[in-house]
Amino acid sequence: MMSKILMVCLGNICRSPLAEGILKSKVNHLDVEVDSAGTAAYHLGEQPDIRSIEIAKKYGIDLSNQRARQFSVNDFNEFDKIYAMDTSNYANIIALARDKSDRDKVDLILNERNPKSFESVPDPYYGGSNGFQDVYQILDDACNKIVENLGKR
Ligand code: 4NP
Repeated sequence: MMSKILMVCLGNICRSPLAEGILKSKVNHLDVEVDSAGTAAYHLGEQPDIRSIEIAKKYGIDLSNQRARQFSVNDFNEFDKIYAMDTSNYANIIALARDKSDRDKVDLILNERNPKSFESVPDPYYGGSNGFQDVYQILDDACNKIVENLGKR
């Protein structure tokens, strides 16, 4: 079954581009499309943060062709599943939902790893490169779970 998955963070330059790249690297044999967006418009059209590009490159994943875009209401029409990186992104997405069907598509990405834990992927933007290594591991775990759970949906 075809599945379209959208990863969402605040700026669409640090966390969600990594989540997109990592998940794409795990589903290339499946009928799954992955994209990412930010709730804010600060970085429209920009490449991912160099620190996200570098950490992904270390694991053989190329993010350099991605460009930041803003989440829009139309994404509820386009995607089957919308994963927020943190509780603030989650609240911002839910605020745009038009009905229950829209709301049902939205979840925190870390609820895939620990159901109903409502944990957030830490925002690495203002920290050093260690933050990006941590975020990479967290998202790699979460994406393994997403792939595992895809078969069950
Ligand atoms: P992201 O990180 O939401 O993971 O892309 C951020 C990027 C930019 C900003 C904040 C977080 N900013 O404030 O510009």
